[in-house]
This record gives sequence, C-alpha cells and structure tokens, in this order.
Amino acid sequence: MTEAKLDPQRMEKIVSLCKRRGFIFQGSEIYGGLNGVWDYGPLGVELKRNLKDYWWRVMVREREDVVGMDGAILTHRAVLKASGHEDTFSDPMVDCRTCKSRLRADQVPEKNGIKQCPNCGGKDLTEPRPFNLMFSTQIGASADPDAIGYLRPETAQSIFVQFKNVLDTSRKKLPFGIAQIGKAFRNEINPRNYIFRSREFEQMELEYFCRPEQGMKLLDYWLEERLRFYENIGLPRTRLHVLTVPDTERAFYSKGTYDIEYDFPFGRQELEGVAYRTDYDLTQHQQASGKPLDYFDEETKQRFTPHVVEPSAGVDRTVLALICEAFAEETVTDEKGKSETRIVMRFHPRMAPIKVGVFPLLKNQPALVEKARAVEALLRPRMNVFYDETGAIGRRYRRQDEAGTPFGITIDFETLGERDPALRETVTLRDRDSMKQERVKIDELPARLTTAIQ
Ligand code: GAP
Repeated sequence: MTEAKLDPQRMEKIVSLCKRRGFIFQGSEIYGGLNGVWDYGPLGVELKRNLKDYWWRVMVREREDVVGMDGAILTHRAVLKASGHEDTFSDPMVDCRTCKSRLRADQVPEKNGIKQCPNCGGKDLTEPRPFNLMFSTQIGASADPDAIGYLRPETAQSIFVQFKNVLDTSRKKLPFGIAQIGKAFRNEINPRNYIFRSREFEQMELEYFCRPEQGMKLLDYWLEERLRFYENIGLPRTRLHVLTVPDTERAFYSKGTYDIEYDFPFGRQELEGVAYRTDYDLTQHQQASGKPLDYFDEETKQRFTPHVVEPSAGVDRTVLALICEAFAEETVTDEKGKSETRIVMRFHPRMAPIKVGVFPLLKNQPALVEKARAVEALLRPRMNVFYDETGAIGRRYRRQDEAGTPFGITIDFETLGERDPALRETVTLRDRDSMKQERVKIDELPARLTTAIQ
C-alpha cells in the first residue's frame, strides 16, 4: 500500500484560501483565537449544510428502515458512566518539564530511541497518565457535585438511551436504524491539522440495530454503502482506503471495525469508523438504568437485546476532505496569450456552496441588469445563486472559480436579441471546470441546473 504524499505547502494554500474566501475562521479570532475551535463563514456553512443534507437524504429519507432523531448535547452523568466514557474515554498524556507543554503520549516523536518534546526538544517528560477527554459542566445553580453533566463526546449515546422510545413510536421491525447529526465535544490534548482534530465538531452517526447473526454481514454492507456515499460527493475511490482495525486495537466489545481513510495533504487519516458494537451499549444502559431496552420478535416470540452496527462519520473531517480534494491551481492562457494561475475549487456540484453565478455583462446597461435580475429571481427559489455585476467579466468568473461555483450565467446583448433575434432569451452558460461556454435558453435553465446539482 502506498502512503499518502505529504504536501504541507498545499495545506497552507488551502488554509489561506479558506480564510480569504470565507469558508473557515479561527474561533474567537479577535481575542487571539481558541485552540481547536473553528467557525464556518458564509461559504463554509453552505458546504457543510450540503454535506449534512445529502447524508440525511441518503441515510434517512431515501430509506424505509431508518428514522432520525435529534438528541440533547447536555448529557446526564449516568449515561456516560454506563457507556464507559467516564472511566475510560481518555488519551495518555505526558508533560514536558522543560517547556510545560502537554502532549499526547502516542504522538511524542522519538530521536535515537528517546522521546523528545516536539516543541522544545526537551527529554525530561513525565510518565504517561490518562486524561479524560470529556468536557464536564455544572447543571443548574446548585454546587452539588452530583449536578455534574457532560457535553456529549459522541451523538451515539442519546440514540441508545432513546432506543425504546423510538422503537415504540416508530413501530420499526429489526433490522432498522436511528440516525443523528449533531455536535460532539472532546477536550483533545493536541487539536491539530486544521479542522481535522478539534475540540468541538459534528458527527453524522447511524446506529443500525439487528439480530446477532446479522451483525458481521451488515458491517460489510454498511462499509460499501459508506464508500459509495463518499464517491457520490466527489471523493474518488483511489484516495479512499479501508483499514481493517486489528483485534488488538479494537474496542473490547467490537467484533469488527473498519476505518475509512482519506489521503489528506498531511497524510492518510480517518474520515469515518464503521463498527460492529454488538449488544454492548444497549446492555450497559439496560443494566445501569434498570429499564428494559430489548426487542420482542412477534414471529419467533423471542425477546432479546439487539446488536448494532454503527457507521460514524465526522462532518468537519469530510468538509476538510472535500476542500482538499477540490483545491486546484492551474495555468491558463487568455486569447492575448497572457498566462496566469487560476485557483479553482472543483467541488462536486451537489456539494458546491454556491451553485450558479449570474452576471450582467455591463452594470451600466439597465436592460442587461434587469434581465440578469430576472434570471436570478427565476433560479433563487431552487438553488443558492450569487449575483455579481462588479468588475470585468473575467474577474467575476475567477472569483466564482475560487468559491467553487460550478456554473456561471452571463446576460449579454444577444440575450436582448439586439444582434440576432434567434438568440433572444438565451444566455451563456459557463462550466467552471472546462471553462467552456454554451448558449442556453433561459427557460431551460431551471431544469438543466437542478438536474446537475441534485
Ligand atoms: N460513536 C463512535 C465514535 O464516536 P469515533 O471514531 O471516536 O467513534 C467518529 O468518532 C468520527 O467522529 C471520526 O471518524 C471522526 O470523523 C469524527 N471525530 C472524532 N473525533 C474528532 C475530533 N476531535 N475532531 C473532528 N472530528 C472528530
């Protein structure tokens, strides 16, 4: 297996474009920033929303066997005690006694067999000790230590806790799934690689409940479904890799886990875990709460605790993969033979934050502006449109190339029928990737573009 090519320069360019164009900003930036916390700007939020909407569409709405839920972030301490998080959700941490940095023990580099602090080179490190990754908080005004709650470290637990309520109200039969998209929080020791490892992030998780004998087969089924999902949002199969997590590294209760990895510019890293978690979670909560979380099979008259297969994806990591995949720099030569570098974000049209730019050729021609505004109004209810009348048309195209807008529509004098009556009510439609332009009738635009972005 060839490892991903490391390309720190590419990563730097991507980070700079994301800030310059309003995809991602450092959290609390004007106060010096908050490490491991990020805010999404106007383009970033659209990209993220397109990703979550598509996940919801294919994982919930297009399936008869999956329902959704939206659980609370604040979580009862007992939930995370029963799940094992309070006692074992930790990373090994060491302190550097020289520069006082806190480091994840498994990420401290070694030189000549001796561990060294990556920040100061110091060799005087403490012994590793566990550091719990959960953010705790005081719930209510009381100072009672029992009033401690947690910001959830994964969305999955609220699905297990609500299993019976969802089962009873949805009247689903096994196998069936409960899906959720939402925030999760982990006090990572070393947040790094931009939004890849952060302290506040979003997950898209499905808990797919089944009979014990179906577990291993469904694990493979969900792996394939998830790989297909990534290809459908524009991540090519050649840059996706499946790691079969070895027995020694799997959670003790899991009978099989795959990691889906992507070749980021900083190396091959996990996008999603697909795990067969057996009946561990439901059994834990059943025992700790004393409430039944089992399933009665009408046909066999058997009562048992369902097993679960869990595809668990990171929203932010997938957004980062989409951005890394889309980023391209190319040299283009204009009609006068002048070459320049074109930066273009080649997002799949389905994911692109803005779907189409609408441009009147000249802003000082009221008839062109009026027509362009009419085209904008025609398309806006169906997709995210950006209207731009400032600057030369070439510059307007370039601005949309950087935003990843797959289509550009220009309203010119032909549109008004001034030169050739046959071209009245037509516009030029420019394709971002090929930069080719074609003449299209205005009334054909809605169908043509909605098909392309679906
Ligand atoms: N419920 C299972 C679970 O939470 P996980 O492997 O710890 O499993 C699932 O997390 C996914 O959540 C990861 O594959 C990753 O995409 C995302 N994720 C986890 N920690 C993250 C972090 N600190 N920053 C960004 N995404 C994270």
